[in-house]
Amino acid sequence: MADKQPHLNGAYYGPAIPPAEQPRYRPHRERSCCCCLFGILWKILVALIVLVGLAVLIFWLVVQPRYFKFYVTEADLTQFDYYSNNNTLHYNMVLNFTARNPNKKLSIYYDKVEALAFYEDVRFANYSVITPMNSFRQYKKSSSTMSAVLSGQQVLPLDNDLVSELNQDKIGGVYEIYVKLYFRIRFRLGDVKTRRFKPKVKCDAKVPLRTMGNVTLFQTTKCDVDY
Ligand SMILES: *[C@@H]1O[C@H](CO)[C@@H](O)[C@H](O)[C@H]1NC(C)=O
Ligand SMILES: *[C@@H]1O[C@H](CO)[C@@H](O)[C@H](O)[C@H]1NC(C)=O
Ligand SMILES: *[C@@H]1O[C@H](CO)[C@@H](O)[C@H](O)[C@H]1NC(C)=O
Ligand SMILES: *[C@@H]1O[C@H](CO)[C@@H](O)[C@H](O)[C@H]1NC(C)=O
Repeated sequence: MADKQPHLNGAYYGPAIPPAEQPRYRPHRERSCCCCLFGILWKILVALIVLVGLAVLIFWLVVQPRYFKFYVTEADLTQFDYYSNNNTLHYNMVLNFTARNPNKKLSIYYDKVEALAFYEDVRFANYSVITPMNSFRQYKKSSSTMSAVLSGQQVLPLDNDLVSELNQDKIGGVYEIYVKLYFRIRFRLGDVKTRRFKPKVKCDAKVPLRTMGNVTLFQTTKCDVDY
């Protein structure tokens, strides 16, 4: 019998499937087609995620967004006297700052800048920093100056340790003033402006008291910019 020697001619493909049995295979074929559709969708999804990731990476590398850099450049302190009889601090100080935009592609809008001044942990003054305009645009790779005039008197119930530290600083002629600044900024790339960011800046400045007829040199102090 021919079908018992399949290896002789190599052309034996088994018995033909009877027509009645064919419907049994159809559901199976539909399911595998469904699976392969999901497979394609999955691959498209993964490819999209990779593309978006790549686009973000390239954007980041091209734009290289960074915050500004911030320095205290000048400090002119003419009074910092604490009177224990009425617990009052009389102070008079001008601080000048420089903000530098290191970005090659982004400008920065400074919408609002607020400064608080502390001696040790005691806040003695807050002031809205005077910027050239109320809200101004700083172009890429440029610097702007801002200054804060801190002047007035403040009732501060300081403890004895702090009073003796203040007296020591008075003898040394240099006060350690800690300034905290609150920013509201936006970035601009081309015509697109971002949402508001609120970085905080902390400056530890050693401020010399200006004595009569002598201008003491203030050392430019770099501040920490927190995101
Ligand atoms: C506190 O006392 C000092 C000296 O005793 C005085 O010069 C200063 O004006 C007083 N400050 C206030 C706010 O009264
Ligand atoms: C601080 O800045 C103001 C305004 O730019 C300027 O008039 C003043 O001389 C500066 N102060 C010091 C101590 O450099
Ligand atoms: C300082 O801050 C206090 C509370 O945060 C506020 O009441 C006061 O008006 C501020 N002073 C100035 C000069 O901004
Ligand atoms: C000003 O200060 C410098 C350095 O502290 C000092 O050498 C100089 O004698 C002072 N000049 C006057 C007029 O006090």
